[in-house]
Amino acid sequence: ADVPRWAAVDAYFSERLAPVDPQLQEALGRSSAAGLPQHEVSAVQGKFLALLVGISQAKRVLEIGTLGGYSTIWMARALPAGGKIVTLERNADYAEVARRNFVAAGVDSLIELRIGSAADVLPTLQAPFDLFFIDADKPNNPLYLDWALKLARPGSIIIGDNVVRGGAVVDPESPDANVIGVRQFIDRMSTDPRLEATALQTVGEKGWDGFSIARVTG
Ligand code: DHB
Ligand code: MG
Repeated sequence: ADVPRWAAVDAYFSERLAPVDPQLQEALGRSSAAGLPQHEVSAVQGKFLALLVGISQAKRVLEIGTLGGYSTIWMARALPAGGKIVTLERNADYAEVARRNFVAAGVDSLIELRIGSAADVLPTLQAPFDLFFIDADKPNNPLYLDWALKLARPGSIIIGDNVVRGGAVVDPESPDANVIGVRQFIDRMSTDPRLEATALQTVGEKGWDGFSIARVTG
């Protein structure tokens, strides 16, 4: 795989189309200095999420898996007036970094950060949400999809991150709990009559991965 070239193309597109300003750069710096895993979406992917929020005019966004809040900041900036993001993070240390990132980026008033296991927090949330970004522990993706459907309305959008995992997703015998979780997630999207979905592979500075995108039809 031509990984250096993928990163160079990301840098080129990012510079032209998804420039990382000081606030986003500082958010990455704070996350990395605090030792968070560098699992954020790339800049061009952050812009993609922001465009989906803008295109759909999503006013209420639910993100499962905040990490340091990089994708949250991208989406928060794309919210229409009165919009809001609820973002869930299990790790209190990660959440503290995210909170500082939100304040420094000036978007903290748009974001409700809930600390705790998503399985515990999801039942406390008020429906509906217009757009979901599922980007937490992959073995629980099927559970998160069930909750997204409970908290959705017809027309809601459900995005999943990391559905390719360097190609590992095609192995039905994989012992990797992440792959197993993603495959169940894709299976559920393929069979649930309330969803129409697709998945797109991506390459770039973060390697070979991809997004699933689903629309709730009813
Ligand atoms: C992993 C998780 C992510 O959300 C991501 O964007 C990249 C990698 C992981 O668990 O390996
Ligand atoms: Mg991810």
